[in-house]
Amino acid sequence: MKNKYTSEIIKEYEKLQETAKQEQQKRINEIYFKIPRIKEIDEQISSIGFKIATSIISKDIENVEEYIKMQSEKITDLKIEKTELLSRYGYPIDYMEIKYKCKKCKDTGFTENKYCSCFRQKLINRYYQQSNLRDILKIENFDTFNFEYYPNRPYNNESLTPRENIERIYAYAVNYTKNFDKLNESLFFYGSSGLGKTFLSNCIAKELLDKGKVVIYQTASNLMDIIRKSRFEDTSNTNELNELLECDFLIIDDLGTEPVTPYSYSELFNVINTRILNKKKMLISTNFHLNDIIQNYPERITSRILGHFTLFKFFGEDIRIQKKFKK
Ligand SMILES: Nc1ncnc2c1ncn2[C@@H]1O[C@H](COP(=O)(O)OP(=O)(O)OP(=O)(O)O)[C@@H](O)[C@H]1O
Ligand SMILES: [Mg+2]
Ligand SMILES: [Zn+2]
Repeated sequence: MKNKYTSEIIKEYEKLQETAKQEQQKRINEIYFKIPRIKEIDEQISSIGFKIATSIISKDIENVEEYIKMQSEKITDLKIEKTELLSRYGYPIDYMEIKYKCKKCKDTGFTENKYCSCFRQKLINRYYQQSNLRDILKIENFDTFNFEYYPNRPYNNESLTPRENIERIYAYAVNYTKNFDKLNESLFFYGSSGLGKTFLSNCIAKELLDKGKVVIYQTASNLMDIIRKSRFEDTSNTNELNELLECDFLIIDDLGTEPVTPYSYSELFNVINTRILNKKKMLISTNFHLNDIIQNYPERITSRILGHFTLFKFFGEDIRIQKKFKK
């Protein structure tokens, strides 16, 4: 996976590690200032550590094993005193430890000689120009989801009110992210414009990213562009393309807005089908109605979608328009 992004990301990790160390040092200094006894304790611990290390080659100690045991007990006592002091002063007991952004790889980008999921995600964010995704997810997430936009009165011939319907979909989505690892099921959101399909996709994306899952979010037309470009222009991008098939969760937004060509169908089919075979989950959203989809896409695509995805219909009143009226 050698490309211009990789070296950029490696530098980013070096910075992250440095920052983590600096932040830790700041916390240590703060504690030493507020609780001087802890500084003494740390000094004692390191001096005992030194004694243990040198005892092995020392000739003056008769029973080395016994000696090491005694010294280790001293260290344990000191450590207990330290944590008691920290909590008595209202600090969490791990306050003086180093804190990494990613616990899995300790901000190195690698675990067990493989790229960590956080590394893959960084690469994807660059390659798929998702760098602004994090900002959107701060605004559009399960906590900010507003049910008020969905009227709680009968709507056309639907058996549920728009409110009841969205409550059901929301609960399903929350549960989906909670049990993500156990499920082998993809989601399909359809319905008219401005009903929160993209919003709810973002809620799911955020929850999964927070869990350390590798997520790609793209509109169908961007996705087609990316595939086309890398197929015809640059062969070094095949690894990033692989992520379309490999990533934990692929969100294809606005299906139906992509330019329609036999080529785009076959690429789309390939991605969806390969992921299904590899038991990889996806979310597709569209403002097509089911009939339109059946009419517009080849049967081999629609039968896969209808067979492997759980379908959710969004209905109600366009939230974009409601927001405008409010203003
Ligand atoms: N539950 C919600 N709470 C607050 N704001 C919402 C909610 N759902 C949607 N919105 C806002 O309403 C607007 C339209 O929502 P969104 O883009 O998710 O609709 P959509 O169903 O994806 O529409 P389209 O089919 O046109 O893509 C956005 O500005 C979004 O932030
Ligand atoms: Mg949308
Ligand atoms: Zn990591």
